[in-house]
Amino acid sequence: MNRQPIGIFDSGIGGLTVARAIVDHLPSESLLYFGDTARVPYGTQSAATIRQYSEAISRYLIGQGCKAIVVACNTASAAALTHLRELWPTIPFIGMEPAVKPGAKATRTGVVGVLATEGTFSSSRYAQLMRRYANTVTVIEDPCLGLVQRIEKGDLQGPATKALLESILSPMLAKGADTIVLGCTHYPFVAPLIRQIVGPGVRIINPAPAVARQLKHVLAQQDLRHVSTLPPSYQFQISGPNGQFEDLASRMMGFPVRVSFHIEL
Ligand code: DGL
Repeated sequence: MNRQPIGIFDSGIGGLTVARAIVDHLPSESLLYFGDTARVPYGTQSAATIRQYSEAISRYLIGQGCKAIVVACNTASAAALTHLRELWPTIPFIGMEPAVKPGAKATRTGVVGVLATEGTFSSSRYAQLMRRYANTVTVIEDPCLGLVQRIEKGDLQGPATKALLESILSPMLAKGADTIVLGCTHYPFVAPLIRQIVGPGVRIINPAPAVARQLKHVLAQQDLRHVSTLPPSYQFQISGPNGQFEDLASRMMGFPVRVSFHIEL
């Protein structure tokens, strides 16, 4: 069982920002990554639809023998995590949520900008997070419409992506935000551009390393760790056309990525 891969899924390339952190923290674990590129973006679709997609992908990954599943997508975690844990109580599911708590802790001005998707912002999980951790700070939210599509296309630096990010970040900066939370796993792909716009004094929070640490903790707790000197296997599968996937994935992972399989779920 312990040799089995960790399943990771997202609507597309976003979850690779989490996969990268997992490789850094758990270098001997094998991974099976699934990007639902045929149905990206998730952020503007209904919670019921995302729950259905997440269930089908999880069923597939479990069928492939995955010992744990990382829902490397804030939108899918918000819509489906509770449901998935109920369906498969013996499989550890690790989910994502916007880092409102670390953001509220880090801010000195008391103003935090949260970049996520419409689906995440409208979820009850997010409302709960806000009630628990954002009482003493001002949170400025933006659903970043169109940003995920630009990132999927590989436009990480171009003028249209820059203009879109400026229109999102400028109002936050004008209101005194000193902390920006990346509440969608796609957005670390444009972190260098965000840094360029906000300048060196603003903190940018990417929760991927914290999720990798949490995964490590859960695997150890359930005695599911695999530690070996043999090289792990990394598999990448997508549901839609290849597009920029291999190129962006190779850049994020730091080694050449080849898609091994296309499957529609
Ligand atoms: N990467 C996803 C997230 O973390 C979803 C982006 C999308 O498909 O809209 O929310």
